[in-house]
Amino acid sequence: MIHLIDLKKYPIDCPESAGYAELVESCKARLLQEGMFDLPGFLLADVTKASVKAIQPAMKTDSYRHARSHNVYFRDKVDGLSAGHPALRKVETVNHTLCADQLGQNTVVQLYDWVPFAAFLAATMGKPKIHRMDDPMARVNVQASYAGEALNWHFDRSEFTTTILLQAPEEGGELEYRKDLRSADEPNYEGVAELLRGTDPFVKRSKLSEGALNVFQGVNTLHRVVPVKGDKERLVAIFAFFDRPGVTMTTQEQVGFYGRAFAV
Ligand SMILES: [Fe+2]
Repeated sequence: MIHLIDLKKYPIDCPESAGYAELVESCKARLLQEGMFDLPGFLLADVTKASVKAIQPAMKTDSYRHARSHNVYFRDKVDGLSAGHPALRKVETVNHTLCADQLGQNTVVQLYDWVPFAAFLAATMGKPKIHRMDDPMARVNVQASYAGEALNWHFDRSEFTTTILLQAPEEGGELEYRKDLRSADEPNYEGVAELLRGTDPFVKRSKLSEGALNVFQGVNTLHRVVPVKGDKERLVAIFAFFDRPGVTMTTQEQVGFYGRAFAV
């Protein structure tokens, strides 16, 4: 991995070192304070560029375009909300996905399968261990967003989301988020409605750099990717980890997310 990751700056291959302990502590502190951390230059610049070059042709011909209208909960009905409540306002999301089975031995797949990567992530999340998925498609995805497209406002269903930005667009593509808009006890539907009206003063924007590793806690932090502008598409790798081993998608989920099934 020495040829893929900046291990001098981020010594995730040396869990016994003081540098590793310091890095984990700073990531944990940022997760606690900001609900995310990012490590700029995690993938080496020429490695990131080569990964993009290998992905782009398949993205043009083989990716699955998924356009949908959804609310921030990804659910039609929410307890305690009438159908016309402004917190249920629909937004549009478009993305183009290449799945792990279409990525060959791209850097992002090699990284996912490298055991110290998951061990490092688990440490930053304060977990004893996290596990890779057994699903041949969902393990690693690369998503493209072209001009006018983006992942729109939503709450995540999983506790942590791990991504690497592979290519930033000329404009747009930033992560926009409103930290702790709700909590386990307080759904704050009025706050959700206010944000969707564009009048929440606490929305922040984070610009990620190419090659940066990002871990984000989005269960109670409403977030979106700002629509892309310009000719250069935004490309992001998404890594799926779970607290238990052996997780796969159902055939129905595979078809819903990717438009096709892949039996395990
Ligand atoms: Fe998300």
